[in-house]
Amino acid sequence: METAKQDTILIVEDNPTNIKILFSFMNLLANAIDALDEDNLNKGLSYEEIKQNPNRLIIKTSVIKGAGVEIKIADNGPGIPAEMQSRIFEPFVTTKPVGKGTGLGLSICHDIIMEKHGGTLLCNSKLGEGTEFVIAIPQ
Ligand SMILES: Nc1ncnc2c1ncn2[C@@H]1O[C@H](COP(=O)(O)OP(=O)(O)O)[C@@H](O)[C@H]1O
Ligand SMILES: [Mg+2]
Repeated sequence: METAKQDTILIVEDNPTNIKILFSFMNLLANAIDALDEDNLNKGLSYEEIKQNPNRLIIKTSVIKGAGVEIKIADNGPGIPAEMQSRIFEPFVTTKPVGKGTGLGLSICHDIIMEKHGGTLLCNSKLGEGTEFVIAIPQ
């Protein structure tokens, strides 16, 4: 795993608000890991091929003085098709098999970040290249 130079933020405290943000963070990480796993299976890559172009999950956090906190979670998985990108924040939208995905993760993240914190949750994704989610939470 590659780690970027980052500022440190403390989001885990005994505080329901922070725990909800942590839930959002965990869901984005779990989605990225699922996407990378799926990519490995679909491409049927050998160990050597994976070693040459390894899966990457990059987490960047920054505290912007006077503006708030930004968290970026990016993977070099399969990416999300454009027609799907416009629907991923809707409830029950999933591409995962029954029993694995509920399609509720991103819709709950979206509610927590936007409605409860006045923040934004954006998705940048390119098919075949990967996906980046950007959480911005104002101070
Ligand atoms: N990092 C990602 N790479 C590719 N697809 C993603 C990624 N994150 C989310 N998705 C797509 O968005 C859908 C909805 O995600 P989510 O709301 O968390 O529900 P679930 O994980 O239960 O499917 C996923 O099923 C997947 O198709
Ligand atoms: Mg999910």
